[in-house]
Amino acid sequence: MTEGLVVPMDVPNESAAALSLPERGTPCTMVIFGASGDLTRRKLVPALFHLMNDGLLADDFSVIGIGRGQMRDDEFREEMRDALADSHEGAMDASAWKRFAGRLEYIAGDLADEAIYARLRDRLTSLESDTAARNGVVRGRLFYLALPPSVFEPTLTHLSESGLAPRLDDAGARPWVRLVIEKPFGRSLESARELNAMVRARFAEHQIFRIDHYLGKETVQNLMVFRFANSIFEPVWNRNHIHHVQITAAESVGVEHRAGYYEESGVIRDMFQNHLLQLLSLTAMEPPVAFRADAVRTEKVKVLDAIRPVTADEVARYAVPGQYGEGSIGKERVPGYREEPRVAARSRTPTYAAVRLMIDTWRWQGVPFFLRSGKRMPRRATEIAIRFRRPPLLMFPRTEGKDISPNVLTFRIQPDEGISLCFEVKVPDHDFRMATAGMNFSYAGSFGPPEHSAYETLLVDCMLGDATLFTRSDAVEAAWRIIDPILNAWDGLPPERLPNYAAGEWGPAEAESLIAADGAAWRTP
Ligand code: BG6
Repeated sequence: MTEGLVVPMDVPNESAAALSLPERGTPCTMVIFGASGDLTRRKLVPALFHLMNDGLLADDFSVIGIGRGQMRDDEFREEMRDALADSHEGAMDASAWKRFAGRLEYIAGDLADEAIYARLRDRLTSLESDTAARNGVVRGRLFYLALPPSVFEPTLTHLSESGLAPRLDDAGARPWVRLVIEKPFGRSLESARELNAMVRARFAEHQIFRIDHYLGKETVQNLMVFRFANSIFEPVWNRNHIHHVQITAAESVGVEHRAGYYEESGVIRDMFQNHLLQLLSLTAMEPPVAFRADAVRTEKVKVLDAIRPVTADEVARYAVPGQYGEGSIGKERVPGYREEPRVAARSRTPTYAAVRLMIDTWRWQGVPFFLRSGKRMPRRATEIAIRFRRPPLLMFPRTEGKDISPNVLTFRIQPDEGISLCFEVKVPDHDFRMATAGMNFSYAGSFGPPEHSAYETLLVDCMLGDATLFTRSDAVEAAWRIIDPILNAWDGLPPERLPNYAAGEWGPAEAESLIAADGAAWRTP
């Protein structure tokens, strides 16, 4: 990650001067396994194209795509051009595309076939020696596994045994070799442990980048700046002042064309094990001693380790599963999950979950953290809301039956990224009435519309070897330890309990009771 945000010059902020410019990725060849897949088309290639246009890719940077589909280099480039055209706002600059296309190559074949690794070796060594001969620069190797989890292990084994990705114990070794692994990292605590053990046996931890794209989002990173570069909130960031925390990741889309993956995964593996627990740990962690990968990651793991496991008996009380039935999103009528293509007619896969977690530390004792995520909610909204305690005594006259609204600090992660704080004010009039008012910071309003995606941030970080925004092996295991009991309990869920919310609703009624038991209510983002 670059050291600071680049603040536009017209923003009246004196501290902007102290921030640094973004660093350029170091020279390397990025090998994408799964190059004809969705992730490459929708996220990776657009991110790389933007990075090149922003001058953040090294001159000596190329991509070798590897996929099963038979394609020549020029056909692969055509496909990637279509992918970019789909994602690109406005017309694509033809000369920029030409420069980008010149960096793309493709190798077709089966990942289980050793021949593919031999061909890859030839291409890598030829690119590396060309660069070295031309300007003496040493190219690194970045292997990106945009693959289904079932082939992570065999692919990592081939990369290691073929010598293409040797173990480098010295973090400063040149040329560097790094591996990016997409989620899900395992599908239970046990399988994550096995995968970690296998990875550890073949590579050094500093070579492994377990990616969680939520950590590359601007507002997520800003959470750390907000908490630790300001002094007014930290003193109240604890059980004495905070009543509870709500973390919501709502999506209006359904399962789209991903039922094959989603039927196996469900919302808990898809969103909770990674994105939501990462948001929770950034919200709850202690101040790290430095803005360095290990210092930040250690504090985050401590939070996960301190989460009280929900026992099998408690799951029904503290976790609510949901699945969408037929309904409407806005004016559009949409099918239920079980009617989506390739979904089982009596599927028990949850597309929604609400979970209450407690963190056993001095700071957070007694403060519930409510997490929820769902598909086919009324709108797309991801936010973290910190709900403060009510004043201990209220001396002002109040309207019968109407309580005051407690203060809420909200981090809007998407869309309309920003931060808002609401508080009570007196309505200006002769009588005495109170109303809730708010202060609102909007990223777009202050800095213009968002310019780069989470993947851009994270890809440059991989090239620079900065793992601050990536998940360490212990954090992955700590997260599975929290998730496993919920998954196990829901394995026995009777299919008749689902679906239990209509598309276009904010989840099942039981989720309201879950939060009401602590004297709270879900916010409508
Ligand atoms: C992915 C999940 O990790 O995150 C998807 O697999 C989900 O199911 C997506 O839709 C949400 O990401 P974002 O950035 O759109 O909030």
